[in-house]
Amino acid sequence: AMWRLSHRSRGAGLLGRRWASSSAQPQTSAELVRIMDEMPPERVRNFCIVAHVDHGKSTLADRLMEMCGAVGVGVDRAQLLDDLAVEKERGITVKARTVSLIHQNTSDGLPYLLNLIDTPGHVDFSYETSRSIAACQGALLLVDACQGVQAQTVANFWLAFEQNLSITPVVNKVDLPHADIPGTVEQMEAVFGVEAEEVVAISAKTGLGTTELLGALLERTPPPAASRDRPLRVLLFDSWYDEYRGVLCLVQVLDGVLSVGDQLLSAATGKTYPLLQIELMRPSTPVALRGLYAGQVGCISLGMKHIVEANVGDMLSAPSAPQAPLEGFKRPQPMVFAGFYPSDEKGFEALQHAMGRFCLQDGSVRVESEHSPTLGRGLRCGFLGMLHMEVVQQRLEQEHGVDVIVTAPTVPLEATLSDGSIVSILSPEALPEGKDALELREPLVKVTLITPTAHLGAISQLCIGRSGELCGESYLGPERVMVQYTLPLAEIATDFHDRVKTLSQGYASLDYESAGTQPADVVALGLKVNGNAVAALTRIVRRPNAERMGREMAMRLKAELSRQVYDIVIQATIGSRIVARETIRASRKDVLAKCYGGDVSRKKKLLEKQKAGKKKRQMHVGDVPIPHGAFVKVLTPAK
Ligand code: GTP
Repeated sequence: AMWRLSHRSRGAGLLGRRWASSSAQPQTSAELVRIMDEMPPERVRNFCIVAHVDHGKSTLADRLMEMCGAVGVGVDRAQLLDDLAVEKERGITVKARTVSLIHQNTSDGLPYLLNLIDTPGHVDFSYETSRSIAACQGALLLVDACQGVQAQTVANFWLAFEQNLSITPVVNKVDLPHADIPGTVEQMEAVFGVEAEEVVAISAKTGLGTTELLGALLERTPPPAASRDRPLRVLLFDSWYDEYRGVLCLVQVLDGVLSVGDQLLSAATGKTYPLLQIELMRPSTPVALRGLYAGQVGCISLGMKHIVEANVGDMLSAPSAPQAPLEGFKRPQPMVFAGFYPSDEKGFEALQHAMGRFCLQDGSVRVESEHSPTLGRGLRCGFLGMLHMEVVQQRLEQEHGVDVIVTAPTVPLEATLSDGSIVSILSPEALPEGKDALELREPLVKVTLITPTAHLGAISQLCIGRSGELCGESYLGPERVMVQYTLPLAEIATDFHDRVKTLSQGYASLDYESAGTQPADVVALGLKVNGNAVAALTRIVRRPNAERMGREMAMRLKAELSRQVYDIVIQATIGSRIVARETIRASRKDVLAKCYGGDVSRKKKLLEKQKAGKKKRQMHVGDVPIPHGAFVKVLTPAK
């Protein structure tokens, strides 16, 4: 043991990992089953980590898993909880994930069950965050010591605070040379009303302070108020679709005991399901359990066929003693809609199939069929926000091999028609003619921005330029300020986030929540190429922005099209009025120019290659080829 200890600490010294010696040995499956059977609610801690993107949530989760023997120590790998390809690539957490850890408490010698409920940190995914928080009693409020308090931390803090979670404030990344611990603590005091003495300073990377953090977590987080003796109440707080096992539900047993073979009544669907399987959430391989007891969290299979049966917030109970669901769970409302079209004509079936499979996993995407004169058959899809849309598009490509053309994102408008009916307007084609609509309303959002004071002027100007109205301002310290604006959702749907980042050199952060509706003043802005309308590029825009956006879109399309043997004229239109015009002069792009010597087979090959390239990657408007990537580029300004 001596050798092991010194050997380990030597390795640890090299890596700067002082925590290594306090790490536990991994438990076997049999041990885990026994520990779970005996685990009373008093020794359970259900908690989440709320943090702004990149403040180190996943890294801390990895560290806690190592400290509790859930994974080997010091393995160099991408964070264990982020396992979607898109998450790896973008370094963000999209889907909330959960892990159960056993911590051997040295002060009373007893094992404790720590359920770490992982939450996504990005603005579009606050729905996933809120539902995960419902299963927790405590939260680690993690703030990067170099970045200070950011907007997403504030938003998630309020979610946790409203749920009455006990909050443990944590300053992370204290190992970095420019870490400002006192300044960060000061901000946390100002924004969250925490006491300086409560704040735990850690480095999730080196492990510094993480043992103290575990101690604070055990001490401050109350156990769930659960009892094995009361009638069964099971909260469903997340669900997903597994390729092999179908729909899986993540549940917390609020009261009672759950055993494999039980019949469970769903309050949401009114149906009874057999409990086929219970698993403990472990980072590597799941562990099959006989039962799940009051206070515990696990993954269960009920043989549900479709994800829509697995309603987040649902209450499962014994059919003989039905229980009411918790209040306050809302289905997430899509905020941004766009058309998804296959990039070639044949691809619709593939797209529809892939999207169908995707919707099994993500119940927050809305999908309807639609048809466009230029793009053919497609799907009108609703998303929680722009990032959500991009992530779905990327996952369709990466996981299902389906390339899509995404049309201009729109926000849902609410039209009161002259016959008194109210309809939701999702696409430019559905926009009623002036006299048909009595009233058109657009959604509003309240945006919270946190920025260094030096950039406040630029950011305020941006918000005001986007029809924003100031509704709150407070200083977080001498150099940081938080402002809140009410803005039309349409104004932030495309490039707002990027503009904020650019104007503040990356230092400002933002978050938004919906804030009702207001009368909308909108028009349909279109683009024509050599006189032919490009339907995929028509968008509903707010009237004050229409001409400027028309000019910008025409310029961006010009940059995306290659010269042809004829002139290409690009026009932006509002109704029959032309508001911008760009011309691409004719030239001859000769792919054969480089083929000296008349090598016929080479020539042929090149021509075929060019043809194949065309087929896959572009569509035609009239004679003019428009590359696949152009659509997205025209609709989303350069980053
Ligand atoms: P999302 O999943 O997008 O919400 O991000 P996250 O909060 O999970 O952040 P993540 O754990 O991925 O960490 C972001 C970056 O900060 C990574 O490059 C980490 O290696 C780094 N990092 C995290 N904790 C520390 C720390 O204590 N010290 C240092 N120096 N770097 C850290």
